[in-house]
Amino acid sequence: MSNVTSYGDKGFSEFIRMAFQRHLGYDEQDFSKPIIGIANTYSEINRCHSHIKPMVEAIKKGVIMNGGIPLEFPTISVGEMFTSPTTMLYRNLVAIDTEEMISAQPIDGVVLIGGCDKMAPGQLMGAASANKPAILFTGGPMNNGEYKGRTLGACSDCRYFWQEYKAGTIEEQELNEINAQLAPTAGHCMVMGSASTIAACSEALGMMLPGAAAVPATMNERLRLAKETGSQAVTLVQKNLTPSKIMTQNAFENAITTLMAIGGSTNAVIHLIAIARRLNIHLTLDDFERIAEITPIIGNLRPAGEYQMQELYYAGGIPALLSELSTLLHGDELTVTNHSLKENLKSAFVRKEYRHVIRSMNDPIYSRGGIRVLKGNLVPSGAIIKPKSILNPALSNHTGKAVVFKSLEDMEERVQDPNLVVDENSVLVLQNAGPKGAPGMPEAGMIPIPNKLLKQGVRDMVRISDCRMSGTASGTVVLHAAPEAAVGGNIGLVKDDDLIHIDIEKGLLELLVDDNELKERKERWVELPVAKEHLRGFKKLYRDHVLQASEGCDFDFLLPETKGLED
Ligand code: FES
Repeated sequence: MSNVTSYGDKGFSEFIRMAFQRHLGYDEQDFSKPIIGIANTYSEINRCHSHIKPMVEAIKKGVIMNGGIPLEFPTISVGEMFTSPTTMLYRNLVAIDTEEMISAQPIDGVVLIGGCDKMAPGQLMGAASANKPAILFTGGPMNNGEYKGRTLGACSDCRYFWQEYKAGTIEEQELNEINAQLAPTAGHCMVMGSASTIAACSEALGMMLPGAAAVPATMNERLRLAKETGSQAVTLVQKNLTPSKIMTQNAFENAITTLMAIGGSTNAVIHLIAIARRLNIHLTLDDFERIAEITPIIGNLRPAGEYQMQELYYAGGIPALLSELSTLLHGDELTVTNHSLKENLKSAFVRKEYRHVIRSMNDPIYSRGGIRVLKGNLVPSGAIIKPKSILNPALSNHTGKAVVFKSLEDMEERVQDPNLVVDENSVLVLQNAGPKGAPGMPEAGMIPIPNKLLKQGVRDMVRISDCRMSGTASGTVVLHAAPEAAVGGNIGLVKDDDLIHIDIEKGLLELLVDDNELKERKERWVELPVAKEHLRGFKKLYRDHVLQASEGCDFDFLLPETKGLED
């Protein structure tokens, strides 16, 4: 018996636990079998997890069929549109909850049920630190939406149609009709947003069964995979195959290659860095840039491309995509199947009818990876952008005058002010919306284009911030500027009318202000007053300990330097 409650008498602890473990009809023999915890994130509020009950049942069947005992337990569950101010504020809380419950409870291994954006990353961070055998399963993507013959995708089309409504090109009634079709079934967002991206990367990382990322939430196939996941959790325990044996430096490189090849979410950069650091693997933005340079986008998936997860599933899913990328992958990495990635991909191929969805390496939709790292005096520790998602190519090499918003509140208050001095060449800058500044780094980086410009036909502008953007969004949007304004980063020193130069090709982002002037501004810089509600509880803990975006936004005290990693 492991992990007994501490009463100062181990024998008594085991005796009393057995008495209480007889619930649900179990007896002594049952508890000599591998005990598989199922971290159940079911929630009626987090709608991306509201459909997972049958999957939990299927996982249990798989555990039992392979000789284990499944015991589900609840953990925190956060959903994107239902968490204020942003789910990112709570990703580390998901990680803490997951780690502590895996570590504290008498389980030998665990199945994690992710889905909505921050769940799988937080769960993998926690599982990495707990380092008991673990396997990830996600709730799966929604089916495509449809409106008057056009495929709809959450939430790229949520943003697109809202902007068109603001521009006056569609009426309120039509907007409401579209709203009813944007998220038509159970599941997570079905474009290559953060949830789909993390699921895809988790397969490449080796933490999820092959094929499990793309199967729509509504298909029988997902229940079969859930059952197989439960069964495999037992095998992981029998082989003592822990997360640290699977999530290696090379495995993370496989995940980054996948991220680049699907034109995936910028949020994955933060999450992969954070998961890796839990295992003492130090990924840097340079690693992402190095891999982006040699990896074309071959997944023709929104928002970088044209299709959605349903079509990716028909094309053969992530195994098919990885088979195309095989020359760029570390194929010998061990996965949760107890086989190498290369072995998992033996029978994977792209279905020829869906060659338009997964393209060949010789016929990509974009010649380099989907994320570009920018450097320069405005962002000494880096920033990122999705070059394929730029809507106005002229903005790829652009110099414009800054229009500065000091905070999220300032932006909300003034961005639609008819007297705001702004034109299509302006560079919109949002300060103090980063990990510490907001706090929680919300997805406000796609700063709204002022309505007066929308009505003139403007649909893209250069926007720069120290916050994040939804993986489903598009535009010339520079994100994760580091260091952030709230810790004295140079983005906080920008003033209205400063000239800013961006050159995507060269990876440059520069504030065209004299060095001496910048030095003086830095000396005069003072932190914005902190809101009263951020001075207590979890928000205070967050502000005091969160790391910068380029470091993964984990808490400093959760890094492995503060805990030995043992098998
Ligand atoms: Fe949950 Fe998009 S809202 S994945």
